[in-house]
Amino acid sequence: MTEHIQKLVDGGVMRLAFNRPDKKNAITRDMYSALADGLAEADATPSVRVVVLAAEGDIFTAGNDMLDFMEHPPHAEKDPRQAPVFRFLKAIATAQKPLIASVNGAAIGVGMTMLLHCDMVIAVEDAVLQTPFVNLALVPEAASSLILPRLVGHQLASEILLTGAKIPAKRAYDTGLVNAVVAADRLEAETMERARSLAALPPVAVRQSKQLIRGDTAEILQRIEEEGAVFSERLQSEEFKEAATAFMERRAPDFSKFG
Ligand code: COA
Repeated sequence: MTEHIQKLVDGGVMRLAFNRPDKKNAITRDMYSALADGLAEADATPSVRVVVLAAEGDIFTAGNDMLDFMEHPPHAEKDPRQAPVFRFLKAIATAQKPLIASVNGAAIGVGMTMLLHCDMVIAVEDAVLQTPFVNLALVPEAASSLILPRLVGHQLASEILLTGAKIPAKRAYDTGLVNAVVAADRLEAETMERARSLAALPPVAVRQSKQLIRGDTAEILQRIEEEGAVFSERLQSEEFKEAATAFMERRAPDFSKFG
């Protein structure tokens, strides 16, 4: 497992934490693989009852590592369906054990969309959720185009997914995207209290209830694939090249020449 994902198991709770604070916890292929492996291990280990997704540093995650994504796009893999990002998305969408996200700051891109697969989300007061996919000439992923409108309605989902609007923690709480907003110094304790309570419940009843609440996994997996196909196409577009280059050059992108 890469050092950029920390894994700790304690008292029935597996904690998987982003640990690449100097790069704002941007997620590389190795990190996606480590997360997918961690989730698979949690499912295969009876003593693990709950998984916590957390992060070191001042941000949950800045989303996909842009450089890694440009240099090693999923469509360039021998079997794109087995690309680390898709392994992770499939793992989180089908996870059997309850997932609690402990959001210590901004959750951007896949950092936000992975929350839609968590069963509980606890966020600090200054956390912000944002999905700047279209701003980067990309499209939504992680089945967010399916799950988010169901959760918050068409209009708010469009505001979030189409415009990349920043959703502060309080608004996220008001719209049902997070369960609780806490002071930063309470985040760990609040998360672990909830994790331990869940871990103490009858495990089969918990797993079966989670599955019932989540609903049709096949539909979610199908949407991840559909989004993935368009996403891969977008990664090869001139629009994305401009967006990614602008990010690297720390300037605003110019989409005026595209039609
Ligand atoms: N991919 C790759 N590297 C990233 C990254 C990403 N998604 N997000 C941040 N980084 C890197 C920066 O390039 C920088 O690296 P450097 O120190 O080698 O120059 C480092 O992390 C610190 O980021 P910086 O932008 O200087 O920090 P900041 O506090 O000014 O801003 C963010 C933090 C998260 C607001 C800003 O980095 C950002 O907007 N990142 C991109 C988020 C994004 O669009 N994600 C969606 C991807 S689909």
